[in-house]
Amino acid sequence: MTQDHPFICHFKICFSKKKFVKLVLSKKRVKTTIIKIVTFKPLQLKDEILVSIVTSNQHNDVTKNFTLEQSVLQLLKFLKEDFYQADLFTLEKDWHLLYYRSGKFKMKSKPPTLHVVDMRHDHVKKRILDPIGNIYLEQLGVTTKEGLVKKGKQDKYLQINKYIEIIEAILSAVHLPQSFNVVDMGAGKGYLTFALYDYLHNKLKRKPKVLGIELRKELVEKCNFIAKKAKYDHLSFEQGEIKDAVLPKIDVLMALHACDIATDDAIARGINDQAKVILAAPCCHKQVRKSMKNQGSLAVLTKFGIMEARQAEILTDTIRALVLESYGYKTKVFEFIATDHTPKNILIAAVKTKKTSVPNPVIKEQITTLKANFGIAFHELERLMEIKT
Ligand SMILES: C[S@@+](CC[C@H](N)C(=O)[O-])C[C@H]1O[C@@H](n2cnc3c(N)ncnc32)[C@H](O)[C@@H]1O
Repeated sequence: MTQDHPFICHFKICFSKKKFVKLVLSKKRVKTTIIKIVTFKPLQLKDEILVSIVTSNQHNDVTKNFTLEQSVLQLLKFLKEDFYQADLFTLEKDWHLLYYRSGKFKMKSKPPTLHVVDMRHDHVKKRILDPIGNIYLEQLGVTTKEGLVKKGKQDKYLQINKYIEIIEAILSAVHLPQSFNVVDMGAGKGYLTFALYDYLHNKLKRKPKVLGIELRKELVEKCNFIAKKAKYDHLSFEQGEIKDAVLPKIDVLMALHACDIATDDAIARGINDQAKVILAAPCCHKQVRKSMKNQGSLAVLTKFGIMEARQAEILTDTIRALVLESYGYKTKVFEFIATDHTPKNILIAAVKTKKTSVPNPVIKEQITTLKANFGIAFHELERLMEIKT
């Protein structure tokens, strides 16, 4: 492997365009070496942007900073001596490189899974939501009275911040009027509803009304109590069903981990209201699984329980994304938090870019073909939209 290898070129180009998020080396060539994984990240030091290389072994991490040229030499050396695999994450694409013992390699790209370049030092990395003096985080049991994140709540805190980082990237590319409405469908305990309100009002200094819809009365009461205590005057929670709750005009809709077809109810309401932004993190995928009957050579796919479940997830969310696209939404589907924090980690993020209330016939046809190929009797979101038209 040399300096002009396409993978190295992608690394250099994205670094110079400030679109380099991180690079991870894995799959050890020699099982007994103590290095487990190596991560490259951009690091801003005064006026200079360097590459910070973190070498992790079983007991500790060693961090050293390099210029781009030096880091390329390091990368070449690591790939020659220590690792078979490299994953480059950029704002434009993710690049996957895999070497074989024979010395041959394969390289492929896919749409980006990470959307924020963070050039800060790890130890000064500050999360978007400040835990100090934060009433809702304390009331929800994430922080102590002193504003320290509780030991068992680090993952929750990280997840909330990560979610806000993603929203930040999406909303920064969307024009929303000074006053707008955010609706959170299936708000649950309200972690993400409060966090989004906090971010929009206190960081962005915007003044949207935020409404959480939730089935469970006790959660609604608790969230309203906390909103009052935090003096979040434009935030309220109402008990109701996603499919028929009385709502204001929706500008931003989120439905995070609402169960099964509740996600479809939520997305349908967002589409029908021409919401500018729709964010859905699907939860269980029972509806499609039940109405799916693979036929012919595909029948074997549903022989193994977990594979059937995975297939149902993929098909359910692909069709959701396609329905959104058919109604003029530019749609992305990506992982929004590492799988060790939560298994429910897919986010469908859709931004209305075309003013249409009629589905695109080409995409409709794609959905019909997909359903026919996999023996899906119906998809709830499509059914809901058909009732409407
Ligand atoms: C898994 S929790 C997720 C809570 C929150 N969105 C989050 O991601 O942290 C799902 C919540 O959605 C609520 N829910 C499920 N179906 C609903 C429906 N049809 N209408 C209103 N709320 C619903 C449940 O009661 C539950 O509190």
